[in-house]
Amino acid sequence: MHLVIIAGARPNFMKIAPIIRLIEEKKSEHDLSYSLVHTGQHYDKQMSEIFFTELGIPKPDVNLGVGSGSPAYQTGKIMIEFEKYIVGKKIDWLIVVGDVTSTFACSVVAKKANIKVAHIEAGLRSRDLQMPEEINRMLTDAVSDKFFTTTEDASRILMSEGKSQDQIHFVGNVMIDCLVNNLPKLRKPSFLEDIVEKYDSYFLLTLHRPSNVDEVENLIALIANISNFAGSSKVIFPVHPRTRKQLEGHKKFKNIHLVEPLPYFEFMYLVKNSKLVLTDSGGIQEETTFLGIPCATLRKNTERPETIKMGTNILIGDDMLLLQKSISTAQNDAWKKGKIPEYWDGKASQRIINILLDEGNS
Ligand code: UD1
Repeated sequence: MHLVIIAGARPNFMKIAPIIRLIEEKKSEHDLSYSLVHTGQHYDKQMSEIFFTELGIPKPDVNLGVGSGSPAYQTGKIMIEFEKYIVGKKIDWLIVVGDVTSTFACSVVAKKANIKVAHIEAGLRSRDLQMPEEINRMLTDAVSDKFFTTTEDASRILMSEGKSQDQIHFVGNVMIDCLVNNLPKLRKPSFLEDIVEKYDSYFLLTLHRPSNVDEVENLIALIANISNFAGSSKVIFPVHPRTRKQLEGHKKFKNIHLVEPLPYFEFMYLVKNSKLVLTDSGGIQEETTFLGIPCATLRKNTERPETIKMGTNILIGDDMLLLQKSISTAQNDAWKKGKIPEYWDGKASQRIINILLDEGNS
């Protein structure tokens, strides 16, 4: 059984790492092989290469070199280059993860070439079609043959969309597999010592969603509010390239410590030890729930509702009073306590590979 695994943007890399690790372990005992395709959607060292090195992901078999561009440009280029790559190859399954442009573009190309598609992290829905990721999720699930879900809710969503029960497998969360595998390797960033000495505590901030960063004035106002509300805490802000472009030429913010995008081991160290995480990311809502760290999500909705129902996450939307209140709740150590969702146990990749192997034998 030959799998082609797609990775294109930063959040894909942590999700494919545990899958590849397992395939490497099992391939000598089973008829199992894989090729890794990097679309090149993310290309900076800090957004891509560093994760391959840290997480022990082998060099991709091919890099499609897509790079930056409008959504249509990126989608078109990925499709054209990926179609060229698959011509004449024997591929049993295309494995895609998450909800980035590369996920959806490669799924559609594979399906049209009669290759079966397995979507890991299927069935998540924010019901917000202004998010490019929501469109990517829906389109990927529309053409996939097999759905691996992180929660029972996601499985139910797929059933309500007409997918059959035997296509859907509730397996847990591969992003949490990556975290579990790497917890002992987390590493303190060198700049942290200074911050810990001077401030009561620190928060971690990430922002990259078009809805938060594409309007410069709104972005500046949001960061200024966070800076004011933080008071005696320092806010560490690893700046995504999309956000960095918007902040060029703007003054510094008091209380905010801007840094380049961080390696995984340093970033997760900061999450694990922070008083509060402020974010508009999808995956970070899950990682904070797993680690029991307070998370305030700077969005109006989430495709990961279990992090709110069970976990440590709350939605802030654009309610600045709620943001201010939440910051003081975290500073006073009065945040709600969460639980870890079922199957977020570091074994999701194992379940996925077992299911694919069973499929191959049947
Ligand atoms: C993408 C994903 C998003 C994911 C995020 C994590 C889509 C639609 N969005 O958003 O789901 O949460 O990645 O990072 O697929 N850029 C660089 N260097 C890089 C990569 C990007 O400078 O290595 C710049 C590009 O020039 C581009 C901007 O960042 O203008 C945005 O990149 P893009 O791939 O379009 O989407 P992201 O905002 O990163």
